[in-house]
Amino acid sequence: MDTGTEGRRTLIISNRLPYSVRQDGENLSVEPSVGGLATGLASYYQDHNCVWVGWPGADSGTLGEKGMEEVAAMLEERACIPVFLDADEIGAYYDGFCNSTIWPLFHYFHTSSTWENVSWEAYQQVNRAFCEAVVREYRPGDIIWVHDYHLLLLPALLRRELPRATIGFFNHIPFPSYEIFRILPWRREILEGLLGADLIGFHTYDYVRHFTDSVRRILGYQHTSGEILTGNRLVKVDTFPMGIDYTRYSGAVDDPGVREEAARLREKYGGRRVILSFDRLDYTKGIPQRLRAFDLFLQRYPEYRDGVVLIVVAVPSRTAVREYRTLKRQVDRLVGEITGKHGTIDWAPVRYLYDVLPFETLVALYQIADVAFVTSLRDGMNLMAKEFVATKHDGLGVLVLSEMAGAAAELGEAIIVNPFNTEEMVGALKDALTMPENEQVRRNRWMQERLRRYHILHWARDFMQRLKATKTRQRELEAS
Ligand code: F6P
Repeated sequence: MDTGTEGRRTLIISNRLPYSVRQDGENLSVEPSVGGLATGLASYYQDHNCVWVGWPGADSGTLGEKGMEEVAAMLEERACIPVFLDADEIGAYYDGFCNSTIWPLFHYFHTSSTWENVSWEAYQQVNRAFCEAVVREYRPGDIIWVHDYHLLLLPALLRRELPRATIGFFNHIPFPSYEIFRILPWRREILEGLLGADLIGFHTYDYVRHFTDSVRRILGYQHTSGEILTGNRLVKVDTFPMGIDYTRYSGAVDDPGVREEAARLREKYGGRRVILSFDRLDYTKGIPQRLRAFDLFLQRYPEYRDGVVLIVVAVPSRTAVREYRTLKRQVDRLVGEITGKHGTIDWAPVRYLYDVLPFETLVALYQIADVAFVTSLRDGMNLMAKEFVATKHDGLGVLVLSEMAGAAAELGEAIIVNPFNTEEMVGALKDALTMPENEQVRRNRWMQERLRRYHILHWARDFMQRLKATKTRQRELEAS
Protein backbone atom coordinates (compact mmCIF):
# COMPACT_ATOMS: atom_id res chain seq x y z
CA MET A 1 0.00 0.00 0.00
CA ASP A 2 1.28 3.46 -0.88
CA THR A 3 1.75 5.35 2.33
CA GLY A 4 2.58 8.69 0.80
CA THR A 5 6.22 8.46 1.91
CA GLU A 6 7.59 7.34 -1.49
CA GLY A 7 10.29 5.13 -0.09
CA ARG A 8 11.59 7.74 2.35
CA ARG A 9 12.58 6.53 5.79
CA THR A 10 10.20 7.23 8.64
CA LEU A 11 11.62 7.69 12.11
CA ILE A 12 8.88 6.72 14.56
CA ILE A 13 9.49 8.22 17.97
CA SER A 14 7.51 7.13 21.01
CA ASN A 15 8.21 6.71 24.68
CA ARG A 16 7.89 2.95 24.55
CA LEU A 17 9.51 0.85 21.85
CA PRO A 18 7.49 -1.99 20.33
CA TYR A 19 9.94 -4.32 22.15
CA SER A 20 10.62 -4.31 25.88
CA VAL A 21 13.54 -5.81 27.73
CA ARG A 22 12.94 -9.00 29.68
CA GLN A 23 15.41 -9.87 32.41
CA ASP A 24 15.49 -13.48 33.58
CA GLY A 25 18.32 -13.64 36.07
CA GLU A 26 21.45 -13.11 33.95
CA ASN A 27 19.56 -13.55 30.69
CA LEU A 28 18.39 -10.61 28.68
CA SER A 29 15.88 -10.81 25.86
CA VAL A 30 13.32 -8.54 24.18
CA GLU A 31 9.62 -9.26 23.81
CA PRO A 32 6.73 -7.38 22.15
CA SER A 33 5.43 -4.49 24.27
CA VAL A 34 1.81 -4.20 25.32
CA GLY A 35 -0.29 -1.07 24.77
CA GLY A 36 -2.32 0.39 21.94
CA LEU A 37 0.44 2.45 20.39
CA ALA A 38 3.04 -0.31 20.18
CA THR A 39 0.66 -2.99 18.92
CA GLY A 40 -1.32 -0.60 16.72
CA LEU A 41 1.68 0.77 14.84
CA ALA A 42 3.57 -2.52 14.68
CA SER A 43 2.16 -3.57 11.31
CA TYR A 44 2.97 -0.21 9.75
CA TYR A 45 6.50 -0.17 11.09
CA GLN A 46 7.27 -3.73 10.05
CA ASP A 47 6.25 -3.28 6.42
CA HIS A 48 7.60 0.17 5.75
CA ASN A 49 10.96 1.77 5.76
CA CYS A 50 10.93 2.66 9.46
CA VAL A 51 13.30 3.04 12.35
CA TRP A 52 11.72 3.28 15.80
CA VAL A 53 13.33 5.34 18.56
CA GLY A 54 12.13 4.83 22.15
CA TRP A 55 12.57 3.42 25.63
CA PRO A 56 12.90 -0.35 25.92
CA GLY A 57 11.19 -0.32 29.32
CA ALA A 58 14.09 -1.14 31.66
CA ASP A 59 16.21 0.79 34.10
CA SER A 60 19.66 1.48 32.64
CA GLY A 61 21.25 1.20 36.10
CA THR A 62 20.09 -2.39 36.45
CA LEU A 63 21.16 -3.24 32.90
CA GLY A 64 24.65 -1.74 33.27
CA GLU A 65 26.92 -0.82 30.35
CA LYS A 66 27.19 -4.40 29.12
CA GLY A 67 23.46 -5.00 29.37
CA MET A 68 22.67 -1.81 27.48
CA GLU A 69 25.03 -2.81 24.69
CA GLU A 70 23.44 -6.23 24.49
CA VAL A 71 19.93 -4.76 24.39
CA ALA A 72 20.94 -2.17 21.77
CA ALA A 73 22.29 -4.96 19.56
CA MET A 74 19.09 -7.02 19.88
CA LEU A 75 17.02 -3.95 19.09
CA GLU A 76 19.15 -2.95 16.13
CA GLU A 77 18.19 -6.22 14.44
CA ARG A 78 14.59 -5.06 14.80
CA ALA A 79 15.25 -1.54 13.46
CA CYS A 80 14.83 -0.02 16.91
CA ILE A 81 17.07 2.48 18.66
CA PRO A 82 16.92 2.63 22.45
CA VAL A 83 16.79 5.72 24.60
CA PHE A 84 17.83 4.37 28.00
CA LEU A 85 16.36 5.87 31.17
CA ASP A 86 17.73 5.44 34.67
CA ALA A 87 15.62 4.80 37.77
CA ASP A 88 15.42 8.51 38.68
CA GLU A 89 14.25 9.44 35.20
CA ILE A 90 11.69 6.64 35.15
CA GLY A 91 10.39 7.85 38.51
CA ALA A 92 10.25 11.56 37.76
CA TYR A 93 9.52 11.53 34.01
CA TYR A 94 7.47 8.37 33.28
CA ASP A 95 5.73 7.75 36.62
CA GLY A 96 5.89 11.47 37.43
CA PHE A 97 5.22 14.06 34.76
CA CYS A 98 3.80 11.65 32.13
CA ASN A 99 1.59 9.52 34.31
CA SER A 100 0.92 11.64 37.40
CA THR A 101 0.60 15.06 35.73
CA ILE A 102 -0.33 14.87 32.04
CA TRP A 103 -2.20 11.55 31.97
CA PRO A 104 -4.71 12.39 34.74
CA LEU A 105 -5.10 15.99 33.56
CA PHE A 106 -5.73 15.10 29.92
CA HIS A 107 -8.28 12.48 31.05
CA TYR A 108 -10.14 15.05 33.21
CA PHE A 109 -8.84 13.62 36.51
CA HIS A 110 -7.24 16.97 37.27
CA THR A 111 -7.72 16.57 41.01
CA SER A 112 -5.39 13.55 40.84
CA SER A 113 -2.70 15.45 38.92
CA THR A 114 0.45 16.48 40.73
CA TRP A 115 2.53 19.55 39.85
CA GLU A 116 6.11 18.78 40.84
CA ASN A 117 8.99 20.90 39.56
CA VAL A 118 11.31 17.95 39.75
CA SER A 119 9.00 15.95 37.41
CA TRP A 120 8.83 18.87 35.00
CA GLU A 121 12.65 19.09 35.01
CA ALA A 122 12.88 15.37 34.27
CA TYR A 123 10.30 15.65 31.50
CA GLN A 124 12.36 18.36 29.80
CA GLN A 125 15.55 16.40 30.27
CA VAL A 126 14.13 13.18 28.78
CA ASN A 127 12.61 15.09 25.85
CA ARG A 128 16.09 16.52 25.23
CA ALA A 129 17.59 13.03 25.39
CA PHE A 130 15.08 11.86 22.79
CA CYS A 131 15.96 14.88 20.66
CA GLU A 132 19.66 13.97 20.75
CA ALA A 133 18.90 10.36 19.79
CA VAL A 134 16.75 11.44 16.85
CA VAL A 135 19.27 14.02 15.62
CA ARG A 136 22.00 11.34 15.71
CA GLU A 137 19.87 9.00 13.60
CA TYR A 138 18.37 11.57 11.23
CA ARG A 139 19.37 11.70 7.58
CA PRO A 140 18.11 14.44 5.22
CA GLY A 141 14.88 13.28 3.61
CA ASP A 142 13.72 11.26 6.63
CA ILE A 143 10.24 11.90 7.94
CA ILE A 144 10.01 12.25 11.71
CA TRP A 145 6.81 11.04 13.33
CA VAL A 146 6.57 11.71 17.08
CA HIS A 147 3.88 10.01 19.16
CA ASP A 148 2.00 10.77 22.31
CA TYR A 149 1.97 12.78 25.51
CA HIS A 150 5.39 11.68 26.76
CA LEU A 151 7.07 13.77 24.08
CA LEU A 152 5.07 16.97 23.82
CA LEU A 153 8.20 19.14 23.86
CA LEU A 154 10.07 17.13 21.28
CA PRO A 155 8.72 18.70 18.05
CA ALA A 156 10.06 22.18 18.99
CA LEU A 157 13.38 20.76 20.23
CA LEU A 158 13.80 18.97 16.92
CA ARG A 159 12.76 22.00 14.92
CA ARG A 160 15.57 23.99 16.56
CA GLU A 161 18.14 21.35 15.56
CA LEU A 162 16.68 20.41 12.19
CA PRO A 163 14.83 23.50 10.89
CA ARG A 164 13.96 21.99 7.48
CA ALA A 165 12.89 18.56 8.72
CA THR A 166 9.43 17.15 8.13
CA ILE A 167 7.95 16.55 11.57
CA GLY A 168 4.56 15.04 12.37
CA PHE A 169 3.07 14.58 15.81
CA PHE A 170 0.18 12.33 16.81
CA ASN A 171 -1.48 12.41 20.22
CA HIS A 172 -2.96 9.07 21.29
CA ILE A 173 -4.87 10.38 24.30
CA PRO A 174 -7.60 13.02 24.57
CA PHE A 175 -6.70 16.68 24.40
CA PRO A 176 -8.80 18.26 27.16
CA SER A 177 -10.92 21.36 26.91
CA TYR A 178 -9.22 24.70 27.54
CA GLU A 179 -10.80 24.95 31.00
CA ILE A 180 -8.94 21.80 32.03
CA PHE A 181 -5.75 22.35 30.05
CA ARG A 182 -5.26 25.87 31.44
CA ILE A 183 -4.69 24.34 34.91
CA LEU A 184 -1.29 23.05 33.81
CA PRO A 185 1.45 25.34 35.14
CA TRP A 186 3.57 24.63 32.04
CA ARG A 187 0.76 25.07 29.51
CA ARG A 188 2.64 27.58 27.33
CA GLU A 189 5.74 25.42 27.08
CA ILE A 190 3.67 22.36 26.16
CA LEU A 191 1.81 24.18 23.37
CA GLU A 192 5.00 25.76 22.06
CA GLY A 193 6.64 22.33 22.12
CA LEU A 194 3.89 20.83 19.99
CA LEU A 195 3.87 23.71 17.51
CA GLY A 196 7.37 22.69 16.41
CA ALA A 197 5.63 20.02 14.30
CA ASP A 198 4.33 20.62 10.77
CA LEU A 199 1.24 18.50 11.33
CA ILE A 200 -0.42 17.66 14.64
CA GLY A 201 -2.96 14.84 14.62
CA PHE A 202 -5.68 13.86 17.06
CA HIS A 203 -8.20 11.00 17.11
CA THR A 204 -11.33 13.16 17.10
CA TYR A 205 -12.53 16.55 15.99
CA ASP A 206 -13.30 17.48 19.61
CA TYR A 207 -9.63 17.06 20.58
CA VAL A 208 -8.62 19.23 17.59
CA ARG A 209 -11.10 21.87 18.69
CA HIS A 210 -9.83 21.82 22.28
CA PHE A 211 -6.24 22.12 21.11
CA THR A 212 -6.79 25.01 18.71
CA ASP A 213 -8.89 26.77 21.33
CA SER A 214 -6.06 26.45 23.88
CA VAL A 215 -3.52 27.70 21.33
CA ARG A 216 -5.67 30.73 20.60
CA ARG A 217 -6.42 31.59 24.21
CA ILE A 218 -3.00 30.85 25.70
CA LEU A 219 -0.63 31.77 22.89
CA GLY A 220 -2.89 34.12 20.96
CA TYR A 221 -2.45 32.35 17.59
CA GLN A 222 -5.58 32.29 15.45
CA HIS A 223 -6.48 29.33 13.27
CA THR A 224 -8.42 28.95 10.05
CA SER A 225 -9.60 25.52 8.83
CA GLY A 226 -7.11 23.76 11.07
CA GLU A 227 -4.19 25.95 9.97
CA ILE A 228 -2.33 27.86 12.67
CA LEU A 229 0.06 30.65 11.73
CA THR A 230 2.75 30.89 14.39
CA GLY A 231 4.71 33.96 13.38
CA ASN A 232 6.19 32.82 10.10
CA ARG A 233 5.39 29.09 10.23
CA LEU A 234 2.23 27.29 9.29
CA VAL A 235 1.17 24.33 11.41
CA LYS A 236 -1.68 22.09 10.36
CA VAL A 237 -3.95 20.38 12.91
CA ASP A 238 -6.30 17.60 11.86
CA THR A 239 -8.36 14.56 12.83
CA PHE A 240 -7.08 11.02 12.19
CA PRO A 241 -9.12 8.40 14.05
CA MET A 242 -6.65 5.57 14.53
CA GLY A 243 -7.69 2.28 12.96
CA ILE A 244 -6.64 -1.28 13.71
CA ASP A 245 -4.83 -3.92 11.72
CA TYR A 246 -8.23 -5.21 10.62
CA THR A 247 -6.93 -8.15 8.62
CA ARG A 248 -4.79 -9.35 11.52
CA TYR A 249 -7.77 -9.55 13.91
CA SER A 250 -10.32 -10.68 11.41
CA GLY A 251 -7.91 -13.24 9.90
CA ALA A 252 -6.83 -14.61 13.28
CA VAL A 253 -10.26 -16.09 13.79
CA ASP A 254 -9.40 -18.79 11.21
CA ASP A 255 -6.13 -19.63 12.89
CA PRO A 256 -6.27 -23.24 14.16
CA GLY A 257 -4.73 -22.18 17.51
CA VAL A 258 -7.42 -19.53 18.01
CA ARG A 259 -10.20 -21.94 17.02
CA GLU A 260 -8.97 -24.52 19.46
CA GLU A 261 -8.69 -21.95 22.23
CA ALA A 262 -12.17 -20.60 21.49
CA ALA A 263 -13.65 -24.11 21.57
CA ARG A 264 -11.91 -24.84 24.86
CA LEU A 265 -13.18 -21.60 26.42
CA ARG A 266 -16.72 -22.15 25.14
CA GLU A 267 -16.76 -25.53 26.79
CA LYS A 268 -15.32 -24.11 29.97
CA TYR A 269 -18.10 -21.54 30.29
CA GLY A 270 -20.67 -24.25 29.65
CA GLY A 271 -23.06 -22.41 27.36
CA ARG A 272 -23.27 -19.32 29.57
CA ARG A 273 -23.45 -15.88 27.98
CA VAL A 274 -20.08 -14.16 28.14
CA ILE A 275 -19.53 -10.46 28.82
CA LEU A 276 -15.96 -9.34 28.23
CA SER A 277 -14.08 -6.60 30.03
CA PHE A 278 -10.55 -6.15 28.74
CA ASP A 279 -8.19 -3.22 29.43
CA ARG A 280 -4.95 -2.09 30.96
CA LEU A 281 -5.68 -1.68 34.66
CA ASP A 282 -6.17 2.07 34.49
CA TYR A 283 -8.57 4.32 36.41
CA THR A 284 -9.60 6.00 33.16
CA LYS A 285 -11.15 2.75 31.93
CA GLY A 286 -14.06 2.74 34.40
CA ILE A 287 -13.54 -0.83 35.63
CA PRO A 288 -15.12 -0.32 39.09
CA GLN A 289 -18.11 1.40 37.45
CA ARG A 290 -18.45 -1.58 35.13
CA LEU A 291 -18.34 -4.04 38.02
CA ARG A 292 -20.95 -2.07 39.94
CA ALA A 293 -23.21 -2.07 36.89
CA PHE A 294 -22.80 -5.84 36.57
CA ASP A 295 -23.60 -6.26 40.26
CA LEU A 296 -26.79 -4.23 39.87
CA PHE A 297 -27.65 -6.14 36.70
CA LEU A 298 -27.55 -9.47 38.56
CA GLN A 299 -29.63 -7.99 41.34
CA ARG A 300 -32.21 -6.55 38.98
CA TYR A 301 -32.41 -9.57 36.68
CA PRO A 302 -31.88 -12.64 38.87
CA GLU A 303 -32.91 -14.89 35.97
CA TYR A 304 -29.44 -14.25 34.52
CA ARG A 305 -27.69 -15.72 37.56
CA ASP A 306 -25.79 -18.83 36.58
CA GLY A 307 -26.49 -17.95 32.94
CA VAL A 308 -23.89 -15.26 32.44
CA VAL A 309 -20.25 -14.67 33.28
CA LEU A 310 -18.23 -11.45 33.24
CA ILE A 311 -14.62 -12.09 32.22
CA VAL A 312 -12.43 -9.28 33.51
CA VAL A 313 -8.95 -9.16 32.05
CA ALA A 314 -6.88 -6.36 33.57
CA VAL A 315 -3.40 -5.94 32.13
CA PRO A 316 -0.89 -4.70 34.76
CA SER A 317 0.13 -1.13 34.03
CA ARG A 318 2.15 1.70 35.66
CA THR A 319 2.30 -0.16 38.94
CA ALA A 320 4.68 2.35 40.53
CA VAL A 321 2.00 5.05 40.43
CA ARG A 322 -0.14 5.14 43.59
CA GLU A 323 -3.51 5.56 41.81
CA TYR A 324 -2.92 2.36 39.87
CA ARG A 325 -2.15 0.38 43.03
CA THR A 326 -5.22 1.81 44.74
CA LEU A 327 -7.32 0.84 41.75
CA LYS A 328 -5.96 -2.71 41.84
CA ARG A 329 -7.08 -3.08 45.46
CA GLN A 330 -10.47 -1.62 44.61
CA VAL A 331 -11.02 -4.00 41.68
CA ASP A 332 -9.83 -7.00 43.75
CA ARG A 333 -12.28 -6.07 46.47
CA LEU A 334 -15.23 -5.50 44.13
CA VAL A 335 -14.68 -8.81 42.33
CA GLY A 336 -14.62 -10.54 45.72
CA GLU A 337 -17.79 -8.77 46.86
CA ILE A 338 -19.73 -9.62 43.68
CA THR A 339 -18.58 -13.24 43.77
CA GLY A 340 -19.52 -13.56 47.44
CA LYS A 341 -22.87 -11.90 46.92
CA HIS A 342 -24.14 -13.65 43.79
CA GLY A 343 -21.92 -16.72 43.30
CA THR A 344 -22.98 -20.29 43.96
CA ILE A 345 -20.98 -23.41 44.57
CA ASP A 346 -21.13 -24.12 40.80
CA TRP A 347 -20.90 -20.65 39.37
CA ALA A 348 -18.60 -17.64 39.77
CA PRO A 349 -20.20 -14.56 38.18
CA VAL A 350 -16.82 -12.93 37.53
CA ARG A 351 -13.64 -14.48 36.14
CA TYR A 352 -10.82 -12.09 36.94
CA LEU A 353 -7.34 -12.17 35.49
CA TYR A 354 -4.57 -9.68 36.23
CA ASP A 355 -2.12 -10.56 33.48
CA VAL A 356 -1.01 -10.07 29.88
CA LEU A 357 -2.82 -12.41 27.50
CA PRO A 358 -1.26 -14.12 24.49
CA PHE A 359 -2.72 -12.86 21.21
CA GLU A 360 -4.47 -16.19 20.48
CA THR A 361 -6.28 -16.20 23.82
CA LEU A 362 -7.31 -12.58 23.40
CA VAL A 363 -8.80 -13.21 19.95
CA ALA A 364 -10.48 -16.38 21.24
CA LEU A 365 -12.05 -14.32 24.04
CA TYR A 366 -13.29 -11.74 21.55
CA GLN A 367 -14.72 -14.62 19.57
CA ILE A 368 -16.66 -16.26 22.37
CA ALA A 369 -17.84 -13.00 23.97
CA ASP A 370 -21.52 -12.17 23.48
CA VAL A 371 -20.92 -8.66 24.74
CA ALA A 372 -17.86 -6.41 24.98
CA PHE A 373 -18.40 -4.01 27.86
CA VAL A 374 -16.26 -0.89 27.30
CA THR A 375 -17.02 1.77 29.89
CA SER A 376 -14.04 4.16 29.83
CA LEU A 377 -14.55 7.35 31.81
CA ARG A 378 -12.26 9.02 29.24
CA ASP A 379 -10.36 7.32 26.48
CA GLY A 380 -8.39 8.73 23.55
CA MET A 381 -9.74 6.08 21.18
CA ASN A 382 -10.09 2.50 22.61
CA LEU A 383 -8.79 0.10 20.01
CA MET A 384 -10.11 -2.93 21.91
CA ALA A 385 -13.67 -1.99 20.92
CA LYS A 386 -12.58 -2.07 17.28
CA GLU A 387 -10.68 -5.35 17.64
CA PHE A 388 -13.75 -7.03 19.14
CA VAL A 389 -15.93 -6.01 16.20
CA ALA A 390 -13.29 -7.12 13.68
CA THR A 391 -13.29 -10.70 14.98
CA LYS A 392 -17.07 -11.15 14.63
CA HIS A 393 -17.18 -13.07 11.34
CA ASP A 394 -20.73 -14.28 11.84
CA GLY A 395 -21.78 -10.78 12.87
CA LEU A 396 -22.93 -11.97 16.30
CA GLY A 397 -21.93 -10.08 19.41
CA VAL A 398 -22.80 -6.69 20.85
CA LEU A 399 -20.49 -3.83 21.67
CA VAL A 400 -21.51 -1.67 24.63
CA LEU A 401 -19.35 1.42 24.33
CA SER A 402 -18.76 4.49 26.46
CA GLU A 403 -19.60 7.79 24.84
CA MET A 404 -16.40 9.10 26.49
CA ALA A 405 -14.18 6.94 24.27
CA GLY A 406 -12.90 8.43 21.01
CA ALA A 407 -14.10 5.26 19.25
CA ALA A 408 -17.74 6.24 19.92
CA ALA A 409 -17.44 8.89 17.21
CA GLU A 410 -17.00 6.10 14.64
CA LEU A 411 -18.90 3.18 16.14
CA GLY A 412 -22.38 4.66 16.42
CA GLU A 413 -24.02 1.24 15.91
CA ALA A 414 -22.74 0.10 19.31
CA ILE A 415 -24.96 0.54 22.35
CA ILE A 416 -23.57 3.85 23.53
CA VAL A 417 -23.60 4.53 27.28
CA ASN A 418 -22.65 7.22 29.75
CA PRO A 419 -20.31 5.33 32.10
CA PHE A 420 -21.29 7.58 35.02
CA ASN A 421 -24.90 6.41 34.68
CA THR A 422 -25.12 2.97 36.32
CA GLU A 423 -28.80 2.56 35.47
CA GLU A 424 -28.09 3.19 31.81
CA MET A 425 -25.28 0.62 31.82
CA VAL A 426 -27.54 -1.99 33.43
CA GLY A 427 -30.14 -1.31 30.76
CA ALA A 428 -27.46 -1.58 28.06
CA LEU A 429 -26.39 -5.00 29.33
CA LYS A 430 -29.97 -6.20 29.24
CA ASP A 431 -30.47 -4.80 25.73
CA ALA A 432 -27.21 -6.37 24.57
CA LEU A 433 -28.11 -9.81 25.92
CA THR A 434 -31.57 -9.71 24.36
CA MET A 435 -30.74 -8.08 21.04
CA PRO A 436 -32.15 -10.13 18.12
CA GLU A 437 -29.46 -11.81 16.04
CA ASN A 438 -30.39 -10.05 12.81
CA GLU A 439 -29.99 -6.71 14.58
CA GLN A 440 -26.56 -7.72 15.91
CA VAL A 441 -25.46 -8.71 12.43
CA ARG A 442 -26.79 -5.52 10.89
CA ARG A 443 -24.94 -3.31 13.35
CA ASN A 444 -21.67 -5.24 13.19
CA ARG A 445 -21.60 -5.29 9.38
CA TRP A 446 -21.78 -1.50 9.26
CA MET A 447 -19.00 -1.14 11.80
CA GLN A 448 -16.87 -3.81 10.13
CA GLU A 449 -17.15 -2.11 6.78
CA ARG A 450 -15.96 1.15 8.30
CA LEU A 451 -13.11 -0.49 10.22
CA ARG A 452 -11.98 -2.46 7.18
CA ARG A 453 -11.82 0.73 5.12
CA TYR A 454 -10.02 2.77 7.76
CA HIS A 455 -7.35 0.12 8.38
CA ILE A 456 -4.27 1.18 10.38
CA LEU A 457 -2.27 1.41 7.13
CA HIS A 458 -4.87 3.73 5.66
CA TRP A 459 -4.62 5.84 8.83
CA ALA A 460 -0.83 6.06 8.52
CA ARG A 461 -1.06 6.84 4.80
CA ASP A 462 -3.58 9.58 5.46
CA PHE A 463 -1.34 11.15 8.06
CA MET A 464 1.73 10.96 5.82
CA GLN A 465 -0.06 12.43 2.83
CA ARG A 466 -1.39 15.29 4.90
CA LEU A 467 2.10 15.89 6.27
CA LYS A 468 3.48 16.07 2.76
CA ALA A 469 0.70 18.44 1.69
CA THR A 470 1.46 20.67 4.68
CA LYS A 471 5.09 20.90 3.65
CA THR A 472 4.06 21.89 0.12
CA ARG A 473 1.72 24.54 1.49
CA GLN A 474 4.48 25.91 3.73
CA ARG A 475 6.79 26.24 0.74
CA GLU A 476 4.08 28.05 -1.24
CA LEU A 477 3.61 30.49 1.64
CA GLU A 478 7.35 31.04 1.98
CA ALA A 479 7.59 31.77 -1.76
CA SER A 480 4.68 34.22 -1.75
O1 F6P B 1 -2.87 4.99 24.91
C1 F6P B 1 -1.95 5.77 25.55
C2 F6P B 1 -0.72 4.99 25.91
O2 F6P B 1 0.19 5.76 26.61
C3 F6P B 1 0.00 4.51 24.71
O3 F6P B 1 0.96 5.43 24.31
C4 F6P B 1 0.57 3.23 25.20
O4 F6P B 1 0.58 2.30 24.17
C5 F6P B 1 -0.37 2.76 26.30
O5 F6P B 1 -1.02 3.90 26.74
C6 F6P B 1 0.36 2.01 27.38
O6 F6P B 1 1.07 2.87 28.21
P1 F6P B 1 2.47 2.57 28.85
O7 F6P B 1 3.49 2.78 27.81
O8 F6P B 1 2.55 3.52 29.99
O9 F6P B 1 2.46 1.14 29.30
